[in-house]
Amino acid sequence: MISPVTVISPVIVAIDGPAAAGKGTLARRLAEALGLSYLDTGLLYRATGRRVLDQGGNVADPVAATSAASTLTPEDLQRSDLRGPQADAAAAAVAAIPSVRAALLDFQRSFGRATGAVLDGRDIGTVIFPEARLKIFVTASLAERARRRFLELQAKGTPAALDQVEADMRARDAHDAARAAAPLKPADDAVILDTTALDADAAFVQALALAQARLAVPH
Ligand code: C5P
Repeated sequence: MISPVTVISPVIVAIDGPAAAGKGTLARRLAEALGLSYLDTGLLYRATGRRVLDQGGNVADPVAATSAASTLTPEDLQRSDLRGPQADAAAAAVAAIPSVRAALLDFQRSFGRATGAVLDGRDIGTVIFPEARLKIFVTASLAERARRRFLELQAKGTPAALDQVEADMRARDAHDAARAAAPLKPADDAVILDTTALDADAAFVQALALAQARLAVPH
């Protein structure tokens, strides 16, 4: 007789939301606390955009961008030039191309399914892992997100003007939300976490409480 087995699928936590809402810091800390791997999926789109720019290509060209996405290597994700306004815009442009998203899908799913993971991005809870055990949509007001990004740029010594940072962020959010392919939006079953008035520690405490409640395995 075959004895019944309980199959516990790897735990996936999906953290989605707009730029500079605090997803990355939160996702990294949550992964560490839960003993899960962590993937910043924005890096995949950033590295794809960079490769197209390196080749002198047009980031809106589906052929060039899909070829770049299909041939990404782990080293591409380690590049030091994946942040900043040019990389932001290139990532958002390639991310609107359906065949680029399709080329990056298996990597994200395999990463999560290997051992369980926390992934952050725009479409983790809606497209990549609709079955994720916990989905958190992290957001904050545009003014607060722009202020955070401005302070980050200042800390790195990158010249920036707050109103320009805010304008770029507004444009990128609008582009991410309006695109037909996997637009930025909360999954129906996502918990919304507004960090406008929360520091990183307070956001982490709330997210960890959600994780403890959702991920507890019944005995
Ligand atoms: O999260 P991050 O700001 O690094 O993402 C850069 C860009 O990559 C986003 O503006 C978005 O266009 C795209 N992206 C995406 N789907 C993801 C992660 C990022 O479309 N899962």
